Amino acid sequence: MRIDIITVLPELLKSPFEASILKRAIDKGIVEVHTHNLRDYVTNNYKTVDDYQFGGGAGMVMMIEPIDKCISSLKAERDYDEIIYMTPDGATLNQNIANQLSLKGNLIILCGHYKGVDQRVRDIFVTKEISIGDYVLSGGELGAAVLCDSIIRLIPGVLNDETSALTDSFQDNLLAPPVYTRPSDYKGHKVPEILLNGNFPKIEKWREDQAYKRTKERRPDLLDE
Ligand code: ADE
Repeated sequence: MRIDIITVLPELLKSPFEASILKRAIDKGIVEVHTHNLRDYVTNNYKTVDDYQFGGGAGMVMMIEPIDKCISSLKAERDYDEIIYMTPDGATLNQNIANQLSLKGNLIILCGHYKGVDQRVRDIFVTKEISIGDYVLSGGELGAAVLCDSIIRLIPGVLNDETSALTDSFQDNLLAPPVYTRPSDYKGHKVPEILLNGNFPKIEKWREDQAYKRTKERRPDLLDE
């Protein structure tokens, strides 16, 4: 998979890819992540990517021309499966969206800033609009990092058995059950006996029951889906 991220703040998108699972996926050659500084595509003398809104009103709007230039130069090199715009009015990211995107080949992620991008960018280029939740961030970069993490860890070969995505919360519309490690007794706080007796069918049943109980208590909406 190849992900191209278009941003005015490339420095915000460095460290998420320099550690842990995302770094390993890149080092293994399973995914390539390239960031593109939108300012490199500006042709006006002021090197600005934004301008005042037509019709008046507070807040600047990102101009279409540099975005067009950047996207067009990428599309001239290869085909893209989706051009994603990070925006609070997009579809809320969930495991289903992450699963679908993990099957794609090439993605562009466009990060908005200020009041967002000129609507014509969305009409002409964007194929998917994604929000990471019902709150407003200062820009799309942190959302893009969250989206990339949720996608990349699902690509076959990225996680090993120990970190397998199959037992994650949400993967089957259930939250994950509680987990424990040594010591089995910490200052009188004991690990449930069932996990210590090696009866794997019983342990599996206990985990399923706990996952269901936790989901019912915390996220009953997931059980309706
Ligand atoms: N940009 C600003 N707020 C955002 C959000 N909630 N999700 C994705 N991109 C955003």
